[in-house]
Amino acid sequence: MLTGKRILLIIGGGIAAYKSLDLIRRLRRAGAAVTPVLTRAGAEFVTPLSVSALAGEKVYADLWDLTDEAEMGHIQLSRVADLIVVAPATADLMAKMAQGRADDLASTLLLATDTPVLIAPAMNVRMWQHPATQRNLATLRGDGVRTVGPEVGDMACGEYGPGRMTEPADIVTAIEAQSEGGPLAGRHVLVTSGPTHEPIDPVRYIANRSSGAQGTAIARAALHAGARVSFVTGPASVPPPEGVDVIRVETARQMREAVLAALPADVGIFAAAVADWRMASPSDRKMKKTGGSLPVLEFAENPDILAEVSRHAQRPALVVGFAAETHDVADHARAKRERKGCDWILANDVSDGTGIMGGTENAVTLITADGSEDWPRAGKETVAARLIDRIAAALSGGTSE
Ligand code: CTP
Repeated sequence: MLTGKRILLIIGGGIAAYKSLDLIRRLRRAGAAVTPVLTRAGAEFVTPLSVSALAGEKVYADLWDLTDEAEMGHIQLSRVADLIVVAPATADLMAKMAQGRADDLASTLLLATDTPVLIAPAMNVRMWQHPATQRNLATLRGDGVRTVGPEVGDMACGEYGPGRMTEPADIVTAIEAQSEGGPLAGRHVLVTSGPTHEPIDPVRYIANRSSGAQGTAIARAALHAGARVSFVTGPASVPPPEGVDVIRVETARQMREAVLAALPADVGIFAAAVADWRMASPSDRKMKKTGGSLPVLEFAENPDILAEVSRHAQRPALVVGFAAETHDVADHARAKRERKGCDWILANDVSDGTGIMGGTENAVTLITADGSEDWPRAGKETVAARLIDRIAAALSGGTSE
């Protein structure tokens, strides 16, 4: 619930602006008061009248409106809120925010504020993927701006990919999770999850077995503990949790790029089952059977993302790796912890018959610098909650054990 919270909602100019009307309704239903700000472009998509009718408050739109300034100056307007939400956050608004420009009411409010800001980006796929937008995104994250979405899907422009604004219900969930002030409030947690797929040719790939269930449960637990969560996932079979910032990738090299782009983070949890090898040179055409002779696949080693982040200049304060082993679990995991340079390893036995791979339960051993601890077999959600509790305790004690 958001009872007693005041949210300043900045509505940017994109087709997704129509969803902001539903967002206002849902925020109010959750108990929040909404002060709406409409950009000039936003007013091309939704009318000030419908926005103010739903918000039950006047709409602010013009930096130079003397009546508004007399009632409540723009500096004051930017500070009365508990949270500023920008939805939809267009490519242009993000660029202005990243540059610190203040040439209209919305950008001026965003520059003048010391209130937490959450943006829900929405734009065409190419605009989202453009290096300029990704640069702006990295700058904004570095400035402490939180993000929700965008989601992957069909776009109004007929294209498909990341760029859709997160649904209003999920934006409200993200706001609630962040404003509840759990033990990880104000922390940024980076989670990798799922398998990676390494193409052999356009129709075949090699992969590790992974449903993504454990990584997804960890991301959800971190979100519920109040963290901002960047969730870098390969092609998993379970859907990502609502309210986290989802970055979808396919290969190990894409996962590495996405992880490095998401830094800095307070905590990195590497639950992905990354393929250790890729094809040295995948075929760009489907490989055909040739009577009798078998194809020879030549492998190249993939980057070790966990090891790289553990030694990175922007290394999170706490780095947690996983070790999926089929024998001598604790010994291998201890060696892996040393080799990769991470703080903790959650080791699990995935040998045949344990039912862990793809199952709903997990039995792990936590390996730290101080020793090891066997956790009882439990549901993956329980293991996730326990891990997040341990992480919150370690961060608040200022120790990574
Ligand atoms: N990992 C990673 N990048 C890789 C391989 C693994 O980030 N290229 C991470 C995994 O997400 C996991 C940890 O490293 O947190 C251990 O993964 P695992 O596959 O068990 O280890 P390997 O490096 O493959 O070691 P080994 O081959 O000795 O089992």
